[in-house]
Amino acid sequence: MSYLGIDLGTSGLRALLVTDDGLPIGSAERSYEVSHPQSGWSEQDPNDWIIGLEEAIRELKEKFPQFSALKGIGVAGHMHGATLLNDAGKVLRPCILWNDMRSHKEAAQLDQTDQVRALSGNIVFPGFTAPKLEWVRNNEPEVFKKVAKVLLPAAFLNYYLTGEYVADMSDSAGTSWLDTGARDWSDTLLDIGHMRKDQMPRLVEGNQQAGQLRQELLSNWGLSNTVIVAGGAGDNAAAACGIGALSKGQGFVSLGTSGVLLAARDGYRPAPETAVHTFCHAIPNRWYQMGVMLSATDSLNWLAGITGSTPSDLTGAIGTKLREPGSVRFLPYLSGERTPHNDSDIRGSFTGLATDTTRDDLTRAVLEGVAFGLRDSLEALASTGASLDSLIAIGGGTRSRYWVELIATVLGLPLKLPKGSEFGAALGAARLGLAASTGIAAETFMHGPEVNVTVDPKTELVDVFGSSYQAFKDTYTKIKSVG
Ligand code: XUL
Repeated sequence: MSYLGIDLGTSGLRALLVTDDGLPIGSAERSYEVSHPQSGWSEQDPNDWIIGLEEAIRELKEKFPQFSALKGIGVAGHMHGATLLNDAGKVLRPCILWNDMRSHKEAAQLDQTDQVRALSGNIVFPGFTAPKLEWVRNNEPEVFKKVAKVLLPAAFLNYYLTGEYVADMSDSAGTSWLDTGARDWSDTLLDIGHMRKDQMPRLVEGNQQAGQLRQELLSNWGLSNTVIVAGGAGDNAAAACGIGALSKGQGFVSLGTSGVLLAARDGYRPAPETAVHTFCHAIPNRWYQMGVMLSATDSLNWLAGITGSTPSDLTGAIGTKLREPGSVRFLPYLSGERTPHNDSDIRGSFTGLATDTTRDDLTRAVLEGVAFGLRDSLEALASTGASLDSLIAIGGGTRSRYWVELIATVLGLPLKLPKGSEFGAALGAARLGLAASTGIAAETFMHGPEVNVTVDPKTELVDVFGSSYQAFKDTYTKIKSVG
């Protein structure tokens, strides 16, 4: 038997085929674009996800005969995106993504409304789903009138796969419509956001069955068995399933388009007075917390783009030996900021540039700025009582050993790099597909990965990076004070 994990990421889709034991058979990837119609806006055409998925499936089918024994599928998706469908199930407009800031006014208004934080367990951030719908109501009333269903990106793929409107708890917790403690849609929150329950998908846990693969896809993909589709997960909960972060003290740092520091909790411990996110896990009766920065590898990709190079050229050019922080500083707020400031107005900046500043200085400043942003999240998590003994490091940015050692030093924590390349959200999604189709309890097989190497903080540089972190925070304060 085989199982498929689909990671619908911001820059591309990854489909991973695994065995009964959850071991990788092979994977296929396709990339797609994000469009930025205005500064701070971020959209994607859901049809591009389907094209990416179908192409990835074709490749898997051609390369791996085990595909024909497919039994279960799990989907992980980038969180918070609003995919709006009419009553015929057709997409009404491009999906507004998690790093889109256009609905900051609507978010502030919802956030100040009585009961919203208490029920959702979180600040209403502009990137969350409910303020996006308020923005559509205010700015595209013709579209708003036609909205019959709102699906998160992973739930949209569930719909494509099964023909049913189903979402999991972990992703739904990022909408500001879910009662995160009760794991159910909240009539009060829906009412406040001018939405109705019939516009929401049915809820299941991530490891439960969402439906079965549609007949048409079964025959297009050359399959004859019944294939179960799991509830799936938001990408961060799925990555936590992939690295076995289910219980207190376990977590990861993820260097993807966004930068995430995630800690599994021993229960529901909301802290909505802080910018720490508290969401349902993809497994029943579990919750996690995380700090999120909006532009992690996105910052390095941006620098690569404007200097006509590639991210690996940039990191390759600075060598592998971690150096003291330079005099150039970078605030990594290209799409605004989430944890800890919740600041949609701020944008990125370089300070300390001089005539002798080189491209390598800029690269180091970008890597350091992202590391400092993650330290902000670590401090925020510490304030809510979320403890992390050591962290597994995942995501494309971990290909740079310099960056990993820098982050270990700035966080003052050892970072473990897993062996192999299959341990993130796609593996977590495949594990959810396996759990949903076999009924095997997640806790019994969602183990941590084999560790390839543990990168310790560079002790002699901890203090100097500590001072530089203070200076990073002061730069933010100074920039805010001059408006
Ligand atoms: C989490 C968040 C991002 C996206 C993108 O709140 O917005 O991490 O899930 O992957």
